[in-house]
Amino acid sequence: MSREYRNALSCFATGVTVVTTQHEQTDWGMTCNSFASVSLEPRMVLWSIRKNANSHVAFTQGAGYTVNVLTADQEALALQFAKGSLDERFAGVDMQRLDSGRLKLNQALAWFDCSLVQVVSAGDHDILLGEVQHFGWSDQSPLLFAQSKFGQMASSLV
Ligand SMILES: Cc1cc2nc3c(=O)[nH]c(=O)nc-3n(C[C@H](O)[C@H](O)[C@H](O)COP(=O)(O)O)c2cc1C
Repeated sequence: MSREYRNALSCFATGVTVVTTQHEQTDWGMTCNSFASVSLEPRMVLWSIRKNANSHVAFTQGAGYTVNVLTADQEALALQFAKGSLDERFAGVDMQRLDSGRLKLNQALAWFDCSLVQVVSAGDHDILLGEVQHFGWSDQSPLLFAQSKFGQMASSLV
């Protein structure tokens, strides 16, 4: 992909999440900013995974995934879950196992535990459509990502 195209895409600011799944008794997790809401009724979301990611089989063949939206002070977690072994990714992270068997980050800003509904092939990525089974949120600020940099919202009084 050309640098120009990447640069253009990176102008679109997003939040940052860590998605987790469990596949064959192993916990998987990776950083993801392609998360989006699709439908409110029923509650459906999506994100896309690179087809040659090591985690690809786990996320496309697992029963579902849990999206953990990161807070403004969790930049280190975003980097931790973007590289390294699974042990390194989950090391020192405060987590809780949901009834689905998947892991939720306890300090997440919001979380969505989803069953996997459909996998749509889209070029070098697969789109993972999920139906939200359980969710939660807290009153904190989100971590943002744009132009290859992490950031946070400037607070302003209205
Ligand atoms: C901010 C950020 C957002 C990312 N979003 C995605 C994404 O939406 N989909 C994806 O496949 N990889 C995404 N990545 C890259 C993966 O996190 C990284 O390639 C992944 O951890 C590779 O793991 P694996 O190949 O071991 O599965 C993102 C990385 C960062 C730093």
